[in-house]
Amino acid sequence: MKYKRHTVTAALPYANGPVHIGHLAGCYLPADIYVRYLRSKGEDVKFICGSDEHGVPITIKAKKEGITPQQVVDKYHKIMGDAFREFGISFDIYSRTSSKTHHETASEFFKTLYNKGVFEEEITEQYFDEKANQFLADRYIIGTCPKCGNENAYGDQCENCGSTLNATDLINPKSTLSGEKPVLKKTKNWFLPLDKMQPKIEAYIDSHKEWKSNVFGQCKSWLNAGLQPRAMTRDLDWGVKVPIEGADGKVLYVWFDAPIGYISATKELFKNANPADWELYWKDKETKLVHFIGKDNIVFHCIIFPAMLMAEGSYVLPENVPANEFLNLEGNKISTSRNWAVWLHEYLLEFKDKQDVLRYTLCANAPETKDNDFTWKDFQAKNNNELVAILGNFVNRTLVLTQKYYEGNVPDAAEYNKNDILLLEEMSKYPAKIAASIETYRFREALSELMNLARMGNKYLADNEPWIVIKTDAKRVQTVMNLSLQICANLTILMEPFLPFTSAKLGAMLNLNRGLRWNDATRTDLLLAGHKINDASLLFDKIEDVQMTAQVQKLADSKKMNEEDNNKTELVGAKPEITFDDFSKMDIRVGTILEAERVPKTDKLLKLKVDTGIDIRTVVSGIAAYYKPEDIVGQQVSILVNLAPRMLKGIESRGMILCSENEKGELSFVSPTKKDANNGAMIK
Ligand code: MF3
Ligand code: ZN
Repeated sequence: MKYKRHTVTAALPYANGPVHIGHLAGCYLPADIYVRYLRSKGEDVKFICGSDEHGVPITIKAKKEGITPQQVVDKYHKIMGDAFREFGISFDIYSRTSSKTHHETASEFFKTLYNKGVFEEEITEQYFDEKANQFLADRYIIGTCPKCGNENAYGDQCENCGSTLNATDLINPKSTLSGEKPVLKKTKNWFLPLDKMQPKIEAYIDSHKEWKSNVFGQCKSWLNAGLQPRAMTRDLDWGVKVPIEGADGKVLYVWFDAPIGYISATKELFKNANPADWELYWKDKETKLVHFIGKDNIVFHCIIFPAMLMAEGSYVLPENVPANEFLNLEGNKISTSRNWAVWLHEYLLEFKDKQDVLRYTLCANAPETKDNDFTWKDFQAKNNNELVAILGNFVNRTLVLTQKYYEGNVPDAAEYNKNDILLLEEMSKYPAKIAASIETYRFREALSELMNLARMGNKYLADNEPWIVIKTDAKRVQTVMNLSLQICANLTILMEPFLPFTSAKLGAMLNLNRGLRWNDATRTDLLLAGHKINDASLLFDKIEDVQMTAQVQKLADSKKMNEEDNNKTELVGAKPEITFDDFSKMDIRVGTILEAERVPKTDKLLKLKVDTGIDIRTVVSGIAAYYKPEDIVGQQVSILVNLAPRMLKGIESRGMILCSENEKGELSFVSPTKKDANNGAMIK
């Protein structure tokens, strides 16, 4: 069946950090190559992505940086969007899941399933952190994976063996908030009964034996183990609120809301055109839906999201989910927290305008069938031995000779000899060959075919030696140069999905018509005789050893810093480090309590009048359970005086009395130990 249109998505990255080469190689680059190819074929395609702004990864980051989740996603949404754009990832839209459209779309979707009676409402025991006073879902809890023994498995997933888990499956669970052992507490959630849906899901997966074997194999192994009901709601406060009665304090599971983000992003895309058109890209049977993802996302895209779509009923199902394995860096797993990564924005500082070199290396090394390794040595070799020596060299020789012999005018091909005809025949096969590889998601193979075309050009020049023949047979050289130029024109078209910046540069040098399409690459008349080309400049230049040494050193430094960090004793439950400047912002002083009384209708609060040495002010303090008002008049205390005023029970409280807390949670004043401190004395 030939499709009328394509919806291509790339996994919505969590907006909790900048983009690194692992992201690019894992899904954004292959997706971009695929989409650029489809566009070049003249297909109707929409390329959808955006930031995944909900879920525990975001709230954990917020805690770490001491800012709100919204501030986290605002910051990284921009950084990530910019990085993708700079590397030519040509999304039709880069949206975000904190948008209004998304909240509405995800709520609607949930309500539809709810009203259809799809969910099972169940009260279950979930882990709760008594210290942090909150439920522990997903990444708020770690423990030992029951399947593979990895000690750092998350509450919803083990990244080591790829299993999806429920938090209660973990052995030795630990809260990532406090490091404490959590307790079980009853709570109501809504479950998607994947167990009951298994036959339908199994039939769907079985109808896709053409999927990559890593993807199909993983799906089968989950199905064989038997699917379990899975909660689609969480007791958390950051996310899309569960849109039904009696669900206060609950949000949609991030893996319920995020894939719906593809749908809401498509809606956003059509918002200003024909708003109803988004539906064609999701509901019309002649739409081919393809999800590009990394391997840790397989179960969500191949089983859970399709199950949601099936339950809803009006959507098409993913036609393919070409997931990649992981890219390692210099032999180690890429890690944001250990700063073991090549960040895209840092790459550009070192290698300005060399986006295509990275695109090339990552595609040539893409972890398509197994995990793969990125090394700087290999990066340099690919640049110097392939881009410079093969592609760049061929193009440069052709253009320079055309300038030299014909002042930049394309010469007429006088007469083809036997080898020319063979060359033309070979050349005409490339568009279909490369296309076949791209359409089956074999991008490495596609790229190596592209390079074979450049190799063929190089060999043609070497075999025909126009620089020698020019002395004896000028006519023959015209043909050789004409054909070489046609190959350059072909390369411009065929390299575009992989190397869009280089393609644009070469197209401009050849003064080539814009808007040429993939199928034009079979033509031999892209550059007519007499057509004037522009001056040549190098497409690629050599990368020197010193540049590589610097990169390797940078990684070594970050490894060393990590080791030093690891040697520091772990401070479980400690707050993140602050600078001295942060500390010195606090104005803490010795003060004396002048008056104290209970705040009516509370058990906890006392209203105090305190002499701070700089003024006399009212402070409301939560110490009523530990101190009687009459006992503390005259007591010296420590008071934070520059805390913003707060209204407590209708009283404006200005400042905070510092207390220590014992293991029972009881408070006691932190007071100067010698009695000679004056009111107003600084505590520092
Ligand atoms: N944010 C997820 C990750 O980085 C991917 C979400 S993909 C989507 O692993 F389908 F949910 F959008
Ligand atoms: Zn595991």
